[in-house]
Amino acid sequence: MKLVVKDRAAKLERNDALIVFAFEGETPDVPREVVLPTHALRGFKGEFREARAVEADSGPCSRVLLVGLGKAADFDAERLRRVGAVAAQRADASGATSAVVQPMKVLEKPIGDPFQAGVALAEGALLGLYRYQSFKTKPKSAKLAKLTVLSGSRELRAGLERGRISAAANAYVRDLQNAPANKLRPRDLAAEAKKLAARSPRIRAKTLGPAELKRHGMGALLGVAQGSVEPPAMIHLVYRPRGRAKACIALVGKGLTFDTGGISIKPAARMWDMKYDMSGGAAVLGVFHALAELDFPLEIHGVVPATENMPGGRAIKPGDVVTAMNGTTIEVLNTDAEGRLALCDALAYVQKTVEPDTIVDLATLTGAVVIALGHELSGMFASTERLRDQLTRAGEQCGERVWPLPLLDAHKDQMKGEVADLKNINSSDSGNGASAGAAFLAHFVGSTEWCHLDIAGTAWGGLGRDWVGGAQGSGVGTRLLLAWLDSRS
Ligand code: BES
Ligand code: MN
Ligand code: ZN
Repeated sequence: MKLVVKDRAAKLERNDALIVFAFEGETPDVPREVVLPTHALRGFKGEFREARAVEADSGPCSRVLLVGLGKAADFDAERLRRVGAVAAQRADASGATSAVVQPMKVLEKPIGDPFQAGVALAEGALLGLYRYQSFKTKPKSAKLAKLTVLSGSRELRAGLERGRISAAANAYVRDLQNAPANKLRPRDLAAEAKKLAARSPRIRAKTLGPAELKRHGMGALLGVAQGSVEPPAMIHLVYRPRGRAKACIALVGKGLTFDTGGISIKPAARMWDMKYDMSGGAAVLGVFHALAELDFPLEIHGVVPATENMPGGRAIKPGDVVTAMNGTTIEVLNTDAEGRLALCDALAYVQKTVEPDTIVDLATLTGAVVIALGHELSGMFASTERLRDQLTRAGEQCGERVWPLPLLDAHKDQMKGEVADLKNINSSDSGNGASAGAAFLAHFVGSTEWCHLDIAGTAWGGLGRDWVGGAQGSGVGTRLLLAWLDSRS
């Protein structure tokens, strides 16, 4: 769907549908030139997500879609995203190919920030219509092809444009997540990075293949990959700002294009979900999708260790010892705890070659975080209060919320090995599975400011918030990071 943004003064043009938002208890503000049958508004309360389509007697739009905003006191950016999605979905379901949103004074004030209102409305409307159709021989895409928003606020119009960019990036991430593992292999993720670099002169991409991984001594990532016929890759994207960089940021994302568990194999039920095990890597690529169209005064690195985790004659075995790039030896007691192995080499690589001010990694790392936090909150392990607060605020602003979880020295001690320096799992009676994963990674970041986000619960399934949800990939992470990068700019 195309989003067209116009000044409020523009006259109401011919459209299949006119969308009119209204708060609970207020009469919907239908423009004079659209004539509705008498009693068309009767009984419409304006409750949150209430929607009603009314055929107009005359005027430039044949149909009016009333959408309730709920109580003004309860209204916020997330509610705006949701009603934006409801409006687009209902307009589309009614068969409209074009729709226009009634001038939006009503939306500018309540959330106090017209720019954020624009972002939320655009994201809601665009993402509400997201469908994954890549492998349907007869794709059923949304019929609603054009949405016009009229607003007199320059900030709101700028927000709509920003929302268009972040929604497109989120949809791109969902496409990568939803792609089956035979169509999105490590090499395909690497090819995506090259394509992203081609969209902007400020973005460069390189890929380290098996030979370079060996040369760098990335024995942990190679250990995970050795059971697969697909060669692994370390993907490295860089965004350089126009002027001087205020800071250097590294984003690292787990890129397991499929995780069978390896020799410590997973049960068959829902193993197919593990095509989503590259969601962290996809979120990092999604940031660069948006960076092609945005300016940040930051140097931003994106690093994605990409591989499959497969059983096989060459596969790594429980008890095997591997050596990571920084020289640390690791006893692999469970081959299904592979994400941390892929990530530890990525973190060591970032430390050595980039030396960033701050590292944020995203990974579908543990089933334990799903038990702890469910699907609405990503688990956050931040090494500084400042980073914890920045990410918390970014999450609240964009509707991808995070929740702090503990990382104790005692958790780090649990990861010390008997045979090697570290082991990749703690003992099964310790519990604290999500903290154990974070604690393992902590051994590879030194004193650099760092946050690990465990997105195993938020990356897919369980959510249902109009603009995001259903069984498929949520695209989580990219919008969160963009909101956070804003706060660092
Ligand atoms: N990719 C999984 C984590 C996962 C599980 C994500 C369920 C989403 C839903 C990860 O590689 C894994 O298998 N983790 C193990 C770690 C354990 C062996 C210490 C887990 O959580 O069971
Ligand atoms: Mn695993
Ligand atoms: Zn995994």
